[in-house]
Amino acid sequence: MDKLVALCKRRGFIYQSADIYGGLQGVYDFGPLGVELKNNLKKSWWESMVYDNDDIEGLDSSILTNPLVLRYSGHEDTFSDPMVDCKSCNMRFRVDQVPESCKKEDLTEPRQFNLMFKTNVGPVDDGESYAYLRPETAQQIFTNFKNVVDSTSRSLPFGIAQIGKAFRNEITPRNFIFRVREFEQMELEYFVEPGKDESCHDAWVQKRLNWWEEQGVPIENIELYDVPKKELAHYSKKTVDIMYKFPHGVEELEGIANRTDFDLGSHSKKQQDLNIKANVLKNKNSNSKLAIQDDKGNWLVPFVIEPSAGVERGFLAILNEAYNVEELSDGKTRVVLKLMPHLAPVKVAVIPLKKNNNDIVQLAKKVKDELQKLGLGRIIFENTGNIGKSYRKHDEIGTPICITIDFDSLEDESITVRDRDSMDQSRMSIKDISSFVIDKFKS
Ligand code: GAP
Repeated sequence: MDKLVALCKRRGFIYQSADIYGGLQGVYDFGPLGVELKNNLKKSWWESMVYDNDDIEGLDSSILTNPLVLRYSGHEDTFSDPMVDCKSCNMRFRVDQVPESCKKEDLTEPRQFNLMFKTNVGPVDDGESYAYLRPETAQQIFTNFKNVVDSTSRSLPFGIAQIGKAFRNEITPRNFIFRVREFEQMELEYFVEPGKDESCHDAWVQKRLNWWEEQGVPIENIELYDVPKKELAHYSKKTVDIMYKFPHGVEELEGIANRTDFDLGSHSKKQQDLNIKANVLKNKNSNSKLAIQDDKGNWLVPFVIEPSAGVERGFLAILNEAYNVEELSDGKTRVVLKLMPHLAPVKVAVIPLKKNNNDIVQLAKKVKDELQKLGLGRIIFENTGNIGKSYRKHDEIGTPICITIDFDSLEDESITVRDRDSMDQSRMSIKDISSFVIDKFKS
C-alpha cells in the first residue's frame, strides 16, 4: 500500500485533500492522472450498463436529499455504527475496531452514531430546514422510479443506473481511499417481477465478476462472500459481496443485493393496496404509487437487484493489480503500471528526440494533434528531450504506447513505436499510426 500511495502522490493520481492546511481526514483529491483513470473507469461501467444493455436507463440525481427520503429508506433509524470513546487516548472507535493499546476499563459504553452528513438548507439555521448529503446513490433512483417509467414507457424487467458521489461520516476512515467519507458509487437498480429475483441476482453476480476481470482484476484475487442472515442490511433478502485481496487484506469491492420490494414499497403511497412483501414503514407523505402494471393489468411492486460498486475501491484494486516492478537486462529495475489500455490515463505519449529542433517538434505536435482527434482519451506531447526518462515516466503511469519522432522521421515519415509491456520498439509509417492506435484501444 505504501508504494501505491507514494506513486499516487508523486505522479499526480491522488492527493490528500486540503494538504496545505494539514488535510481533512478521509477525504482525497484526484490529480491530473487520477481524474483520467477515474473517468475511464466510470465510462467503462456506464458503457457496460447503459449502452450494452437495451433495458437499462441512466440517471444523474441530486446529492442534497430531502430527509423524508432517508426516513422511509430506513437510513435515519438504522444507518449507524456502534462506537466507543477511549477516556485514556480521547479517541473514538467503532466497537469492532478498538486498537489493542486501549484498555477495556477506559472504554465508554457503545453508542449508536448515525453516519449521514446533515446540512442546512436556506438562510435560516433553525434546525428544521435541513437536508442530508446522500449516503448512497440508490435512493433517488427509487424516488424517480415513476418518472422514469412514465417518460420511457418501460416494462419489467428494466434497470436504472447511476454514478455519483455519496457521503458517510465514517468513524475511522482508513487504508488510503478504501474507506473514506466522500466517495463515488456506481449503482444499478434492476427491477424484476417478484419470483424472478433469485435467478436475476445470480446472473448479476456473474456479470459483475466478468466486468471486473475486464478491468484487470483477476478472478484469482476475488472471493465471493454470501452475507449471513444476521449481517444483512435491513432491506436485503440476500447479498453477495465481491471481496478483493486489497493490499491491507480481503475486503468488499462491490455488493450485489436483493433488495426485494423494500425500497419502492417504503416510498409508495397506497401501500395497503400493493401486497408489499417487505416490512416497511407506513408512508404518510408520498404522493406517488411506485408500482407497475403487469401484462394482465395488475399492479405489482417490483423486486430490486442492486449491484453497487465503489469507484475508489475499484481504482485501488486496479492500481494494485497493475503495479509491477520488473528486473531489466541491464540489472536495473522499472516500475510499470500494466493498466488495461481503456483505463490508462494517458493513451499515447508523443516524444520528439530533440526538444530544441523545431522541425522535429512541429512534426511531433502534428502527430499528437492527429491522434487526439481520434477521441480515445488523453494524448500527451512530451517534450523533455530525454527519451529514456520519458519512457520510465510513461511506464510508471501506465501509458500503453510511446511514439518517438527523430531525424529519420523528417526524411522518410516514419516513427518509432514503443510498447509499454514488452518494451519492443518498431518502426512504422506516420500514415499508419492512427489505425495502429485505434486497433490497440478498440481490441
Ligand atoms: N446502495 C447499497 C450500498 O450503498 P454499501 O455496501 O454500503 O451498499 C456499496 O456500499 C459500495 O460502496 C461498497 O461495496 C464499496 O465499494 C463502496 N463504499 C461504501 N462505503 C465506502 C466508503 N466509506 N469509502 C469508499 N467506498 C465505500
